[in-house]
Amino acid sequence: MHLTKGEERIYDGEEGWARQTCMKILVRLGELFDAERLIPIDSAHVSGISYKTLGDVPIEFLETLANSGGEAKVKTTINPQSFDPKYLAKKLPANICGKQLRILKQFERMGVAPSSTCTPYYLDRPRRGSHLAWAESSAVVYANSVLGAHTNREGGPSALAAAIIGKTPNYGMHEAENRRPKVLVNVRNPPRNEAEFGALGIHLGKMLGDKVPLIRGLRCASEDNLKQLGAALAATGMTNVFRREPIDIETSGMEKINVESNDIAQTIKSLSTVSTQKPDLVFIGCPHCSLTEVKRIAQLSEGKKTRSGIECWVCTSRYIKEMAVTDVKRIERSGFHVLTDVCTIVSWTEILGIKTIMTNSAKTAHYAPTLNNAETILAPVDVCLKTAFRG
Ligand code: F3S
Repeated sequence: MHLTKGEERIYDGEEGWARQTCMKILVRLGELFDAERLIPIDSAHVSGISYKTLGDVPIEFLETLANSGGEAKVKTTINPQSFDPKYLAKKLPANICGKQLRILKQFERMGVAPSSTCTPYYLDRPRRGSHLAWAESSAVVYANSVLGAHTNREGGPSALAAAIIGKTPNYGMHEAENRRPKVLVNVRNPPRNEAEFGALGIHLGKMLGDKVPLIRGLRCASEDNLKQLGAALAATGMTNVFRREPIDIETSGMEKINVESNDIAQTIKSLSTVSTQKPDLVFIGCPHCSLTEVKRIAQLSEGKKTRSGIECWVCTSRYIKEMAVTDVKRIERSGFHVLTDVCTIVSWTEILGIKTIMTNSAKTAHYAPTLNNAETILAPVDVCLKTAFRG
C-alpha cells in the first residue's frame, strides 16, 4: 500500500501509540483487500459497543487507546448499548450497567458522540458520493443504497481506527466497479408493509451472498421500507449495496432471480417461531425508528392502553425522541416505553424474563432466537400494536 509521508510518520509511531496502532490496523486491512491507498472519510460509525456483545477483554484496549491520546479526527457516532438511561438502567444488574458505562466513558474520552443509535443518518445525513467508515451493517446498506454514500461494512475496531486517523483503505464499496449490479431481482408482487420488506431482505440475503442486486418492483417503497429491506439483507448475506430502478444499465446478460409472494410468506412464517399471540415483549424500532415511524406509532396508540404483564418498547435515537416530544408523550400515555440508546438484540432481555418477542423487524426476528434466547413473532406494526393493546 502506498502511504504518504504524513501517513508513514504515523505508522512509524511519531504521533504516538494510539495513532500508530490505528494506522497499522488500517494498513493491514488495506493489504488484505489490495487497497492501494487510504482515502479521507467524512464520518465513522462504531458498532459492537454493547457490553453484551463486546465482553470484558476489549475494555482494556479501549482504555489504553484513550489513555494514549486516541482521538476521533472526523465526526464519529456509536451503535446502541445495553440499556437506556431511564427504564432499563433501573432493571439490569449494577455490574452490567457499570461495565457498560466504563465502555461509554472511553468513547467519550476519544471525542466520539454519545449517539448510541444504529441510524446515524437521521442525525446527520451523509452527502451523496461521500466516503464513510461505518460498522453497523444495516446503516452500511442504507448509506450505500438509499443515500448514495460509499462505505464498506467495517468491523468495530477498523471503524474506530478510521475515526482516529480520519481515513480508510480504498477498496470494495469505495470503488465504482464494485457497486455495479450483477444480479437482476424481479419482485413480482411488491411487499405491502415493513415486515414484508424485511422478509424480502432475509430471503435475498441468503440467495445473493455478496453479489450486488438490481431490484425491480420497489418503485413505491418508502425510505423506512428500504431501511427494513437493507437491515435484513445484511443479516443473512454479505451484500452491502442494492440498486433499484430507474438505473441506466444493460441487464440482458445478468443472472436473474424471481421473488414470488410465496417466498415472502414462507420467510415470514420461518421467522415466527411460535404460534402464540401472547408475547412477553412487543418491540418496534429495529433499526431505530425514524420520525415518520414514531408519528405513525403515536397515531396508532391514541386512546389505547397496553395489556398488563407485557413489556412494550419503541426504540429510537435521542435525537429523534427530542424531535418528537408530543408524539412520544402520546405513545407513552398508552403504556409503551420509548427507549433511546438501546435495542432488544444488544440488551439483556433474558434477565428480564422475556421469552417471546413480537416485532415488526425481520432483522430482530432473525437474531433474537440466538442472541436473546427467545421465540419470535414477526408481524407489521399495526398487528404488533393491536397485540400490545387491550380490547
Ligand atoms: Fe439497530 Fe439493534 Fe436492530 S443495533 S439494526 S436496532 S439489532
